[in-house]
Amino acid sequence: MKTINPSQTDAWKRLTALSKKYEDLKLSDLLAEHERFERYSIHFEDLLLDYSKNLINDEIFNALRDLAEETELHDAIQSMFSGDHINQTEDRAVLHTALRNQSGHAVYLDGKDVMPEVQAVLDQMKSFSNKIYNQEWLGYTGKPIKSLVNIGIGGSDLGPVMVTEALKSYQNPKLEVFFVSNVDGTHIAETLKKVDPETTMFFIASKTFTTQETMTNAHTARAWFMEKSKDEQAVAKHFIALSTNESAVSKFGIAPENMFTFWDWVGGRYSLWSAIGLSIACAIGFENFHDLLKGGHAMDEHFKHSMFNRNIPVILALIGIWNTNFLGASTEAILPYNQYMHRFAAYFQQGNMESNGKYVDRNGEKVDYKTGPIIWGEPGTNGQHAFYQLIHQGTHLIPCDFIAPAISHNPIGDHHLKLMSNFFAQTEALAFGKSEKEVKEEMISAGASEEETQRVLPHRVFEGNRPTNSILVKKITPYTLGMLIAMYEHKIFVQGAIWNIFSFDQWGVELGKVLAKKILPELENDEEIQSHDASTNGLINAFKKLRNS
Ligand code: F6P
Repeated sequence: MKTINPSQTDAWKRLTALSKKYEDLKLSDLLAEHERFERYSIHFEDLLLDYSKNLINDEIFNALRDLAEETELHDAIQSMFSGDHINQTEDRAVLHTALRNQSGHAVYLDGKDVMPEVQAVLDQMKSFSNKIYNQEWLGYTGKPIKSLVNIGIGGSDLGPVMVTEALKSYQNPKLEVFFVSNVDGTHIAETLKKVDPETTMFFIASKTFTTQETMTNAHTARAWFMEKSKDEQAVAKHFIALSTNESAVSKFGIAPENMFTFWDWVGGRYSLWSAIGLSIACAIGFENFHDLLKGGHAMDEHFKHSMFNRNIPVILALIGIWNTNFLGASTEAILPYNQYMHRFAAYFQQGNMESNGKYVDRNGEKVDYKTGPIIWGEPGTNGQHAFYQLIHQGTHLIPCDFIAPAISHNPIGDHHLKLMSNFFAQTEALAFGKSEKEVKEEMISAGASEEETQRVLPHRVFEGNRPTNSILVKKITPYTLGMLIAMYEHKIFVQGAIWNIFSFDQWGVELGKVLAKKILPELENDEEIQSHDASTNGLINAFKKLRNS
């Protein structure tokens, strides 16, 4: 990867000038142009991205595209897909795209084709998931498996939970899926209350197989299982491991035939396409899991081969850069108008913030521009009744992505039309707002006095001019979900490439883990401690007193 400081490029300087030149740009003016939708939207298969409700015009968009050219995005894309060690701080390639590669072509890593290994694990996953899905895998008392418990955290949890929820309508109704991630004992305790050891399969999902939360929950699950089954041999029928760490898996007591492997070139937050996705495959069936991979691959091909001005992930990334670096946004909301996708924003909270939450560039220098935004969101319409107030009338600029399917899996009455009317209304309201004149007319025609109207007027005006992207798909199927996930993955990659940061490490999560390990033994007795700063000492000592009071 090149190490070009984006803020030193001509394009960045032009964009800075354009942000001043067009500081009064109004979405209401831009959207008055009839062809704007045609020119600022793009179809790819069943997916439509409408980016016309953004504060951009051709001059701005061209400068953004030039930024991508000047920071040599083409090379970065090529490097990722061809297995270069672009995760330089860990000296690893980034090849999650190989996990969903459907092209039939080899993918080389250090001169060796990784596809045979990928295919071998997929075959192993297929055979295992078919047995679970078809109720052929029997537990230690001869009963079929009914409950799947995935124990993992971060990428080893969020991907499986997000996809399983999003594709719930494809799930075998004979199976129930649970996810345990938090080291808070409540999470595993409440889950174990709901399952029967005779019919439960535990998936211990951890790339490293050393993560404190996952290993603690896994040991608790195994102890619970042993207490109930009283049979060491039975473990093999109820515990499987999804990991890259063979020796730690065997030390835990899981046999090699019950381990599903993946590789260090799969980042944790990009791992749902790997063996980490096994709980998904078991729940929705392998064919559906395969369709998810196909959708991801279709987006990879689009991303790899489309010109930047017709390239969905690139367009989303460039608009994000415009909003973040030139319009001053610090956050982005992801708002799926689809209840099944209720963990989608949480998934990309990790995907984006763990990838691009970096203040040091690829030269090891502190950046002089903003990088990854704060990502959050909830499904519509729930969010409308919670935080949209701030999006409409708050003091922060919050660009939003609205995502919805045209066809619902649950076409009950007029629910879907109501849902979609809210989707369209919100993006319209955010763009156009409500003027003083409109508020006045509305109030007066409702019979309000002149005095009352003047008093309330400023509070009822919406400035509008809030940018949004709208993403429509035909239906949330495994295939379209695969496309959507890969779309955001590549958006994040493009932004990291342009911001000149390393998107595939996560050193920022290490310090807290190390300190927690140091503190743990100090909590195991009631002695007063003095080994930290004033606040941490005070808190630990207060905690010790409270637990004994
Ligand atoms: O929190 C950091 C992290 O390494 C994530 O990147 C990862 O998804 C998560 O922990 C879980 O790691 P593992 O799969 O190794 O248990």
